[in-house]
Amino acid sequence: MKDLIQKLINEAENEIKSSLTLASLEELRIKYLGRKGSFTNIMQNLKSVRSEEKPAIGQALNAAKNELEQHLTTKQKTLEEEVLKQQLSDDSFDTTRPGTHYETGHIHPLSQVQKEVEEIFSQMGFAIQDGPEIESEYYNFEALNVPKDHPARDMQDTFFLADKSHDHHGRMVLRTQTSPVQIRTMEKFGAPLRVIVPGRVFRYEATDASHDSTFYQVEGLLIDKNISLANLKGVMTEFLTRLFKKETKVRFRPGYFPFVEPGIELDMWCLLCSGMGCRVCKHTGWMEFMGAGMVHANVLKAGGIDPEVYQGWAFGFGLTRLVMMKYGIDDIRLLMGGDLRFLEQFS
Ligand code: PHE
Repeated sequence: MKDLIQKLINEAENEIKSSLTLASLEELRIKYLGRKGSFTNIMQNLKSVRSEEKPAIGQALNAAKNELEQHLTTKQKTLEEEVLKQQLSDDSFDTTRPGTHYETGHIHPLSQVQKEVEEIFSQMGFAIQDGPEIESEYYNFEALNVPKDHPARDMQDTFFLADKSHDHHGRMVLRTQTSPVQIRTMEKFGAPLRVIVPGRVFRYEATDASHDSTFYQVEGLLIDKNISLANLKGVMTEFLTRLFKKETKVRFRPGYFPFVEPGIELDMWCLLCSGMGCRVCKHTGWMEFMGAGMVHANVLKAGGIDPEVYQGWAFGFGLTRLVMMKYGIDDIRLLMGGDLRFLEQFS
């Protein structure tokens, strides 16, 4: 019996060795190990073997089967590798063909300009702060010296959240300005302070070429001892000159915001004509840029800062409007519209 097994193994090994294709190898697997294969046959013949010889022969048979299986697997791997090599060296495989082209995206123009703004202010020692887009009426209005029922609340039409679970901080709103972060940073860090706050704001307004219900602002806040609007003029002239990479001038006009006293509007030199007067600036030489002013004593108090010791200024400009000015975009809706034909011009 043992001889028979050995003979079978030798025969199988020879056949495996000379097998040239995966298909013929599979045939061999069936021939020797299949349901009706040679080894299965011998197993069945085991019945006729004397019982004291059974264990030894059984063992030999199993060892032989394992050996055979191993041979088959090794050979299979070799053949598979050969097939692969064959495919790779096949003439029809052109290694010089260009690969699949994947589109790469780029940063949105709003984010690009926001980054430039952040870099310039960082270089001037301003920290960059963040605040929630869903705010309480307290932070968005009250703490900024806009009491309930004050007509100044109508300056910024507001989205109110349906959620009625409000506390002493009033109802929840989508912030209409980045100014609430003035209060939050004063509460958090105290004086002195030097921060900018880029962020998204919301107004309940009809949409047209220059109004959108969602846009971006940058708030600025500087608090220290002996601060005046002269410092603001210097900082903004420097900022705009660095941003537009050409000499820029700014001017102040009186303006009203409840959270500053005195309040101002800041104009900058027309980007196109540098003060000479052209169609874009309606021949004035100036372009409206932002609201600003000395932080109102009530606002400092709301932020926990003593107005007898510290004073400072704040400003807020539209980042969205800045991007429009920088690239000559005449419709605000293009910026958030997601139209790739528009966006791809800024890569
Ligand atoms: N928050 C004001 C606005 O949205 C801008 C502003 C900020 C004005 C800070 C003065 C000081 O219009």
